[in-house]
Amino acid sequence: MKYVIGVDLGTSAVKILLVNQNGEVCNEVSKSYPLIIEKSGYSEQDPEEWVEKTAAGLAELIEQFDGDVKDIEGFSFSGQMHGLVLLDEDNQVLRKAILWNDTRTTKQCQEIYKVVGNKRLLEITKNPALEGFTLPKILWVKEEEPQIFERARVFMLPKDYLRYRMTGNIHMDYSDAAGTLLLNVAKREWSSELLELFGLPLEFCPPLVESHDFVGTVKAEFAHATGLSEAVKVFAGGADNACGAIGSGILSEGKTLCSIGTSGVVLSYEERNDLDFEGKVHYFNHSEEDTYYTMGVTLAAGYSLSWFKDTFAKEEAFDQLLAGVDEVPAGSNGLLFTPYLVGERTPHADSTIRSSFIGVDAAHERKHFARAVLEGITFSLNESIEIFRNSGKTIDSIISIGGGAKNETWLQMQADIFNAKIEKLTSEQGPGMGAAMLAAYGCGWYPSLKECAQVFIQTSKTYHPIQENVEAYRKLFAIYQQVYTHTKELNEQLRPFRK
Ligand code: XUL
Repeated sequence: MKYVIGVDLGTSAVKILLVNQNGEVCNEVSKSYPLIIEKSGYSEQDPEEWVEKTAAGLAELIEQFDGDVKDIEGFSFSGQMHGLVLLDEDNQVLRKAILWNDTRTTKQCQEIYKVVGNKRLLEITKNPALEGFTLPKILWVKEEEPQIFERARVFMLPKDYLRYRMTGNIHMDYSDAAGTLLLNVAKREWSSELLELFGLPLEFCPPLVESHDFVGTVKAEFAHATGLSEAVKVFAGGADNACGAIGSGILSEGKTLCSIGTSGVVLSYEERNDLDFEGKVHYFNHSEEDTYYTMGVTLAAGYSLSWFKDTFAKEEAFDQLLAGVDEVPAGSNGLLFTPYLVGERTPHADSTIRSSFIGVDAAHERKHFARAVLEGITFSLNESIEIFRNSGKTIDSIISIGGGAKNETWLQMQADIFNAKIEKLTSEQGPGMGAAMLAAYGCGWYPSLKECAQVFIQTSKTYHPIQENVEAYRKLFAIYQQVYTHTKELNEQLRPFRK
């Protein structure tokens, strides 16, 4: 039996999967690392932690493997998107990585619009300038830390840096490059126009590759430290959302994914690169060659629930926290939550907005709050589904993965709020599985990713909308949508008080 490894370099942890030729997950190891939040709006990580924790996880996985390590043929990655890693001329890291959920760059986003123009920016990158994307972070370092920026020779994204440390080779794949705001998404090349406008040389950007491209082998010292064979083939990998889509079989027109991790996304496959969503949803290159996907993002999806647990029930397991939530009717007895803990992206690109509980009543118990958090996250994702539907897309069936697929009540809630059939997968590994599939395809096990998906991915259970709940949620969603407008100005006034 042959094997591949998929590494998912996430925001809270690295998850490593060992997958065999039948698509079965034979082992899985996870190592977590912290977010460094120096002040409100900041979110950083130490790239060295990614390397150390991945090496430790791989060593554990290989130690537990009782087969011949040479049968592990390929290796690929999925990575948290947009994070900025800056390297000097000796390829040494210059500062901590600034992550996708860091929102310090509102000023730089405004500068980008001023310099490029909203329309031209959309033409080239297909996306608006959002605080989370990489170019605003590059400009922030240039303005705020000029002595560091002077020494920067190349920028990378998180999983590209990890791969560089494993192989010694520098690359970036199209799906991750699409989130930098420096790629001409339709032409699939670095935009010389944008680079010139911001005074960045082409060498500042890594060479572009396909996600399934072979990009080297593991360096002797890394092989030695982990037990991997030096012959294992390394394939570039992709953005976590693209890999999550591949790992869930989102590989043809009409397929839609709801993935709830730290952030939450609703993502839809696109064959074409010339549709116009006016920047309301993200429009990125897929990790499948020459295809695309559109996506709406809720910044704090799973994060809202883990924040709620850490703040109010730190010692409890998630199951305990969610006990009783199924007994609470749709609408949490008149309690609404907006998941804007760190600002929002879709449909309100707003880094100042913050969360609210609306309608708190003396009769509310913790279970009502817990249900309201689940509903608020799902309402936020439903805003993205509305944008897709309003653009003419039919969304009647959605594959749900991540935290949202771990709880029966939440799965039914998605069916009721999205008013669509929700499918849960047999073995749901999302981005890590997508990474493993890129390695399997790269190794030549299958002639295409689609054929690989036919073997690797199956649906286990389907949840159908319950009409009574659909009706209740339709009314509640209309109220939920008003909370943003009513709390926007209040949050602007509160901003100076945030430390
Ligand atoms: C997507 C985004 C997040 C991160 C999470 O644009 O910022 O989904 O990719 O890792």
